[in-house]
This record gives sequence, C-alpha cells and structure tokens, in this order.
Amino acid sequence: MSNSLLAQPLPLPCGATLPNRIVKAAMTEGLADPGGVPTAELERLYGLWSDGGAGVLLSGNIIVDADHLERPGNVIVDSVPDEQQRAALKRWASAATRNGNHFWGQISHAGRQTQKPVNAHPKAPSAVKVGLPGGQFGEPVALTAAEITDIVQRFAQCALALKECGFTGVQVHAAHGYLLSQFLSPRTNLRTDQYGGDLANRARALLDTVASVREAVGPSFPVAVKLNSADFQKGGFDFEDSLQVVQWLEQAGVDLIEISGGTYEQPKLLGIEGMEEAEEQTIERSARASARQSTAQREAYFVDFALAMQEKVSIPLLVTGGFRRRAVMEQAIASGSADAIGLGRPMCVLTDAPRQLLAGTEALPRYEDGLQLWPKGLGFLNRSQALRTIGTFGIQFWYYAQLDKLGREGAAQPQLSVFAATRQVLSQQRRWLAARGKATRNAGNP
Ligand SMILES: Cc1cc2nc3c(=O)[nH]c(=O)nc-3n(C[C@H](O)[C@H](O)[C@H](O)COP(=O)(O)O)c2cc1C
Repeated sequence: MSNSLLAQPLPLPCGATLPNRIVKAAMTEGLADPGGVPTAELERLYGLWSDGGAGVLLSGNIIVDADHLERPGNVIVDSVPDEQQRAALKRWASAATRNGNHFWGQISHAGRQTQKPVNAHPKAPSAVKVGLPGGQFGEPVALTAAEITDIVQRFAQCALALKECGFTGVQVHAAHGYLLSQFLSPRTNLRTDQYGGDLANRARALLDTVASVREAVGPSFPVAVKLNSADFQKGGFDFEDSLQVVQWLEQAGVDLIEISGGTYEQPKLLGIEGMEEAEEQTIERSARASARQSTAQREAYFVDFALAMQEKVSIPLLVTGGFRRRAVMEQAIASGSADAIGLGRPMCVLTDAPRQLLAGTEALPRYEDGLQLWPKGLGFLNRSQALRTIGTFGIQFWYYAQLDKLGREGAAQPQLSVFAATRQVLSQQRRWLAARGKATRNAGNP
C-alpha cells in the first residue's frame, strides 16, 4: 500500500468515497457507433483504464443533443435510451468499474463549438461565431428560452439514464467553451433575458442544469462540474466570476469541482497560448507569486487558481492540466490547492499511469514535447497563426489516434506521426458522419 498522499481516499459531500486522489480526466474517445451507442472498443479502453489504478475515470463528452456533438464518434444520450442503448451503456460501465474505481459520465452540449459538418447552424446563447481561422465551425443561432429549458431537462435525463446503467457519478461540462461555458462568458453570451447580463443571469443555465441533474439522481449520487478558472480572454469569464460561480455551485450541492481553463480559441487547458495574448487575471498576491513558479515549471497550470478558490469554498477541488511529476501532484495536495489530481494526455499511452505513480514512479512522459505536425525544417510554418492552429489540432489528433488504437487494438502506438494521426482521425470522422447521415435518413424514411 502506497504511503503517498495520492493514495488517500477522498470522501465527497454526497457520502461516496473516492478510493484515491488520481482521476483520469475526460477525453473524447470518438469510439461510439454511428448511432452514438457505446461499442466494444469503448469497453476495451475503459477496462484498461480501470486496471490502471485511477480512483475515478471520467468519460469523454456524452452528448445530450445529437445536433450538437463535440466531435463525430461521441456517445449520445439525447432521449430516454432504448433497451439496446441501455445494454451497451451497462456493458461500458461494467468494464470501466471492474477494479472497484468510480466511473463518472461527463455530460455535455457543444453549442457553438459544434463542427460545421455536424451542424452548420448550431444553437448557442447568442449568435457569436468561434473566432478561429479555417471555417471549421458554423454560424450559431441564439437559443430561445424554451430551448434552454429543454436542454436543461436533457442533462437531467441523461444523468438519470447513466445512473440507471451503472455509472457511479456524473460531471456536468461547463468548461472549455462548450455550451454552459458559453453562457458564462460575456463575450459569447449577449442575451438580454434572464440567461444573460450580470453573472447571476449568465450562471442561470448552469445552475438550473445542476439543480435538475441533482433532482434526477438524488442526494447520494456524485454530481461534479468541470469549470474554467478563467477563459483567459479579454472581456471573458474571469477568475473573479469563477470564484463566485464556485460558491453558488457549492450551495447547489455539487460534490466536486474540476478546475481547468481556456476554450478552443485559447487552449490553456493544454498549456497552449491561443489566438490572443493571455489576459492578466485578477488573482491574489500569494497566488500570483506561486503562479510564476508553476509557469516556470510548465506544470500544474491551474493549481494557483485552485489555492485561491480553496479559501472561498470547502467543496473538494479536482485540478487538471499539466501534471506530470509525482512530487508536484503531492505538493498540490499537501499545500491544500487540490484535493485530487486530474491526468489527461499521459493516460492516452500509459493507461496505468496512476498505478505507476502510486508505486513510486517520479514522472510521467510529456509526449507533446516530441510532437510536431510539420516535418523537420518546416517549423517556420508555425509563424502563421492559421497554420499554428492546424498544428495544435494535429497534436490533439495524435492523442485521439492513441485512444483509438487502445480501443481497437489494446495498445497505443506512440511512434505514429502527427501527420498520419491527423489523416487517420479526419477520415474516421468523415466516415462516421457519412454512416450516421445514412442511418438517420433511413430511420426517417422507412
Ligand atoms: C485527446 C484529448 C481529449 C480531450 N477531451 C476532453 C473532453 O471530452 N472533455 C473535457 O472536459 N476535456 C477534454 N480534454 C481535456 C482534458 O480533460 C484535460 O483537461 C487536459 O488534457 C489537460 O490535462 P493534461 O495536461 O493532464 O493532459 C481532452 C484532452 C485531450 C488531450
């Protein structure tokens, strides 16, 4: 038995206890069938992760509206599931919990960050398009109040279905620029009704969602929220806003908040500077001093925000982003910044990274350091913003491809080039969409 702080159980307000402090962060898998139903590949992937020793596995985005996928291949639960869907969700949950760990479903709606081939006119709080070059996203249309109420109910319906199928908790995704995060930001929420304007109104969609999810699953089932510490954009959701929302979420009976940050436009979640210079955020002096230190370490991107948050709330905080060294993880817990540590990218290759850390491994690999889209000699292409954006997506696709290999073949393929991974993922996504289009058309025209 490890004597690391990471090995300590973590009790949650709802009465559940996490077996240790390491959480496999949510990572979109792209492995559902064209109906959005979980597959044997998802079972294989999550079985490996369950064997890997994390206290909690968070699923990738499970989507509550098929017209607003985060990407082709998402699991979709946008109505009361039929028997076939239920059986598949149960098999997935059973594989993902085979070592007694928790398995929480991340429930989500992509809003304006829905890719154009999925929906050229996605619904969003307001008609504000994603500001990235390349035309990957469509022209959003503002939701009506009735449509917002419907989405809130879909989150609750999905949470209940997951609970009934053996998931041991849910996480509402309100970070990274997806729909609920769009509501929170004054840049993307220009509404003048009860869902827009001051922070209380901008947080209404999230708080209504949390309340209806809690009502659906009952008081003793873990309900978590993933929230940005900030969007890191001028005039966006900032750290002061986040501090307030965390307090409201605590009052709403949330069990755990995962702190991340950024959006597609500003991918801070991956430690990457995006389209704009990161805006200086208002953080307390002490937090700012240690922020410099952790930036120097290029590790633990949000740990200082979490420390300042801990002064406001007593709800457990999961901090995700950049952690690679065991000492840094233990320090985050010892200093009171984090109650649990989220791990993403290392788990795409090393499925047993948590077990290794608990057994004494000092550091996990940073695969991204060795990855680049452009072959040697063409690095100057990164000087163009549009090409840099493509490069960022390419590296993300490399991780998608690793998840795909784990699911289909049971082993990652770290020697795969970013270029080959990008081609593979894009063609798989195209095929999935084509198959889905065909299936949906057939269903509509028997
Ligand atoms: C391949 C991949 C897929 C991801 N998918 C999701 C997702 O579905 N939901 C989510 O909240 N975050 C997602 N993320 C972000 C991770 O949860 C995490 O916040 C991020 O990778 C930073 O942690 P890390 O430095 O340990 O990788 C994804 C990240 C990667 C690399």
